[in-house]
Amino acid sequence: MRIIALALLLLLATFISSNAKEATPSPIELIRPANKTLYVGENVTFVIQTNSRKIDVITLKQDNNMTTEIPVKPTKQTYCKTVPIHVGENNITVRAFEKGKVVAEVKRNLYFLSELFEGADEPEGYNRAFFHADNNENRCKACHDMTSNVPTNDEALEDVTQTTCYKCHQPMMRTKSTHAPAANWLCLDCHDGTVSEYNMEDKGKSKYLVRDPVAGACGKCHDTVEGWFMNRYTHGPVNDGRCIRCHNPHGSDNEFFLRKHIWDLCTTCHAEKATGKHIVSSFVFSRNRGAHPTKGPRDPARPERTFVCSSCHNPHGSSGIFLLRMKGSVPFNVCGRCHKKTSTNYGSKR
Ligand code: HEC
Ligand code: HEC
Ligand code: HEC
Ligand code: HEC
Ligand code: HEC
Ligand code: HEC
Ligand code: HEC
Ligand code: HEC
Repeated sequence: MRIIALALLLLLATFISSNAKEATPSPIELIRPANKTLYVGENVTFVIQTNSRKIDVITLKQDNNMTTEIPVKPTKQTYCKTVPIHVGENNITVRAFEKGKVVAEVKRNLYFLSELFEGADEPEGYNRAFFHADNNENRCKACHDMTSNVPTNDEALEDVTQTTCYKCHQPMMRTKSTHAPAANWLCLDCHDGTVSEYNMEDKGKSKYLVRDPVAGACGKCHDTVEGWFMNRYTHGPVNDGRCIRCHNPHGSDNEFFLRKHIWDLCTTCHAEKATGKHIVSSFVFSRNRGAHPTKGPRDPARPERTFVCSSCHNPHGSSGIFLLRMKGSVPFNVCGRCHKKTSTNYGSKR
């Protein structure tokens, strides 16, 4: 009898202790992002819930050795932080500390598929997750106003920081230069929730979808766009309407809101042209180590600009062959843009 009682007691004790273990929640819970999320932009928002009052700091450590520290207050449980990720696969470790000791660790693998490298590197096992659907937004409503007050009449709010999107998306606009409709928080000029040819399957997945291809939306404000399509020659990605393969629609640290400096941008897709050997080399350059320069401090035809691929080529379209900044099909006609001498003497001593 005693033995049975003891056994029962033991059973009860283990039951209670194992239950107690389950009842102790992990010191931190990651509300978002989900593991293996695919991003098309460089910002990821972490929303972290703390379940222990003893945590004093949370860190987000990225594989490029960037660490973001979030100081924790005993009175505050939810922490939201947007961090930039790099192109390709990112491994991010979230750690919670108590007096310098790690008490919890959660890892996330995320992928930034840049438009510029689209198709080159489709990652396996990753999924794009849209955020702006009611079931996701519900978890934020207690503290964030989730209704849009973005004007749709092209007249920005006098104080753009009062746009409801601002509080969460402000980190996106930290680039050196920002594109007018984004800088004015007229986000719905592009994100009107509609889809097009390339993203039909996303229909309804987010309130703020943007049509893909986006060229039509750009053309509403940039009336030069129509002309590029009327040109005899239109550049591949432009022809597909994929302006955002080269331009970041929100802003960038580079001129013209480009995703890279022009020369780096062009050679991302046309690496073999970096040497300049392609520039009618056989005819002219036997004396010049076989190549024309493709970059330099000054474009003779546009003195305020540096000399790059787009000094000779129009990146959008041209009535001249090979998108050259000239008319017709004789590539030599472009030389006169910068070399004022006759076609048989292209010396640089102008
Ligand atoms: C000129 C058009 C345009 C404007 C204006 C614009 N966007 Fe975008 N945005 C785009 C396009 C195009 C994409 C890429 C769409 C895709 O692939 O899902 C995009 C992507 C995004 C993304 C996801 C990828 C990323 O870069 O993080 C977010 C978030 C976003 N936009 C927020 C905003 C907000 C907030 C505003 C207003 C401040 C805004 N956008 C204004 C065109 C625009
Ligand atoms: C308990 C309140 C609370 C909840 C719930 C909450 N947030 Fe926040 N969030 C804040 C506060 C407060 C800020 C301002 C920054 C700060 O003080 O930490 C903020 C800031 C942000 C930012 C800007 C971060 C940055 O680095 O600038 C984003 C993005 C954000 N929240 C997204 C979300 C999302 C998405 C959800 C729902 C999954 C959510 N938040 C739920 C309170 C909350
Ligand atoms: C509570 C914070 C919050 C608010 C408010 C908010 N967003 Fe977002 N938004 C996010 C988060 C989080 C994501 C997912 C990307 C990330 O992790 O940063 C996102 C993603 C997006 C995307 C990409 C598509 C999608 O659904 O994932 C667009 C476009 C966008 N937001 C536009 C807007 C616009 C326009 C507004 C204002 C009308 C707005 N957002 C308000 C937090 C917010
Ligand atoms: C709602 C109107 C509007 C839409 C839509 C729009 N833009 Fe713009 N864009 C402007 C304005 C206004 C400027 C000039 C001010 C500035 O530089 O931001 C501009 C400037 C630019 C510039 C820099 C031009 C220069 O000479 O420096 C580029 C590049 C550009 N836009 C690309 C795009 C692309 C790509 C799209 C589509 C994804 C687009 N724009 C959609 C209004 C718009
Ligand atoms: C292959 C890359 C690429 C694509 C795709 C592209 N652009 Fe550009 N864009 C550039 C470069 C490079 C410049 C700067 C050209 C220069 O050096 O003058 C530029 C300049 C611009 C300018 C300002 C000067 C001008 O030429 O009008 C606007 C506006 C613009 N782009 C809009 C667009 C729009 C809209 C689309 C889509 C229809 C688009 N771009 C597609 C690379 C690109
Ligand atoms: C996102 C990739 C991408 C980028 C960036 C890019 N291109 Fe292209 N380019 C293409 C594609 C695709 C074609 C079409 C290839 C074909 O049809 O053979 C093309 C074709 C060309 C052609 C040949 C056109 C013809 O009529 O034969 C020229 C010239 C050219 N690009 C110049 C440039 C310059 C200059 C830049 C930088 C401003 C640039 N490209 C950036 C993808 C790109
Ligand atoms: C000095 C003027 C000049 C510069 C700078 C220049 N190109 Fe060209 N490019 C030409 C000429 C001329 C042709 C026609 C070549 C021919 O007739 O064989 C051409 C042709 C091309 C073609 C199409 C021909 C093919 O073989 O597919 C591409 C793509 C191209 N260039 C890309 C670039 C890129 C990328 C850069 C910058 C790294 C660049 N070019 C810099 C003058 C230039
Ligand atoms: C957009 C301006 C531009 C265009 C167009 C251009 N060049 Fe040049 N060229 C330059 C620059 C810049 C240099 C190098 C700096 C210098 O020596 O002046 C150069 C150098 C040269 C040189 C070398 C001179 C030397 O003494 O080393 C030759 C030869 C030449 N170019 C021929 C051509 C030919 C042929 C074409 C037409 C297919 C052409 N260039 C089109 C800007 C241009």
